[in-house]
Amino acid sequence: MTWKTYLNKITAELIEYLENDIQYLRTPASKIRQIGRREIELLIESYKKWKPEKLILKGNTKISHSDQAKLTDFLKKRRQGIPLAYITGQQEFYGLSFRVNKNTLIPRPETEILVEYVHNLVLKRFHNSNRRFMLIDVGTGSGCILVTLAKLFTGLKLNYRAIGADQSEKALKVASFNAKKILRETSKIGFVKSSFLDFLNKRRNNQDIPCLITANLPYLSRKEYKNLSGEVSNEPREALLGGRTGCEKILVLLSQLLKLKLKAEIFLEISPTIYLRLKKYCALNKKISNFRFIQDLNKRIRLLHLSI
Ligand SMILES: C[S@@+](CC[C@H](N)C(=O)[O-])C[C@H]1O[C@@H](n2cnc3c(N)ncnc32)[C@H](O)[C@@H]1O
Repeated sequence: MTWKTYLNKITAELIEYLENDIQYLRTPASKIRQIGRREIELLIESYKKWKPEKLILKGNTKISHSDQAKLTDFLKKRRQGIPLAYITGQQEFYGLSFRVNKNTLIPRPETEILVEYVHNLVLKRFHNSNRRFMLIDVGTGSGCILVTLAKLFTGLKLNYRAIGADQSEKALKVASFNAKKILRETSKIGFVKSSFLDFLNKRRNNQDIPCLITANLPYLSRKEYKNLSGEVSNEPREALLGGRTGCEKILVLLSQLLKLKLKAEIFLEISPTIYLRLKKYCALNKKISNFRFIQDLNKRIRLLHLSI
């Protein structure tokens, strides 16, 4: 059997599975076919290190039994709802390749909005100014937000230190691996196991240094979590479930922050579902001096930027 014949068979079976997956119910068939083909390409790229061009060249050569077994196993795992990123162990985010595993959330494209927003703000406010600042990422997971920002800042005249915090030690290991792989020796990032900002309470902080805090904390409500499609529910519960209404974790972080005497701004990824609750909280809280919500291109509210 040739590579081409075997891949066609596996791709057709994968597409059939995707067509029945609840998350693709509203996706046009042509797009699902594209997704299926791309998944197979990414899989081959990750385990054979073959780019799609090489795959075409290999098309008419014989496929070994072990490669057939690998592809069959892949299909089996996908049919069990295991996401592609957990099978290949990597996910692209902002053009960078991040290691992921079952202990980390798979970075999502919508989180790139937060990265882009903070990147622009830092450039405007701190570039070439020699003003120091702290960058803290709460619930860092794979480290995708902080590592991407640090990568974007590489070579720029910026005076900052960065800390990634997560309550999950296993996630922190992955984040630290990604920082070393993507930033190499130049990494300015420290990682710390901490629930929310607990680690700041234990340190003596210089209160004059402005702190920029990013956080993509879990924000699904219990009901949303219960209704998740099979695939997403394979990701860590602690990375998805925000509490009864979805806002609970975010509110703990905000109340902790308001008690710390810091000059801080916070950038939170949020969903439209929790927007109104957060808006009310910000409007009623006198310690919050400024807040604004930012929409994505589809006019969905995705980000809350607030200053204290
Ligand atoms: C939605 S994931 C985001 C991961 C990553 N920042 C991203 O954008 O892909 C939320 C992360 O918050 C962490 N987390 C949940 N509760 C936390 C808490 N109380 N303190 C610190 N981290 C927490 C989870 O372990 C998980 O890694």
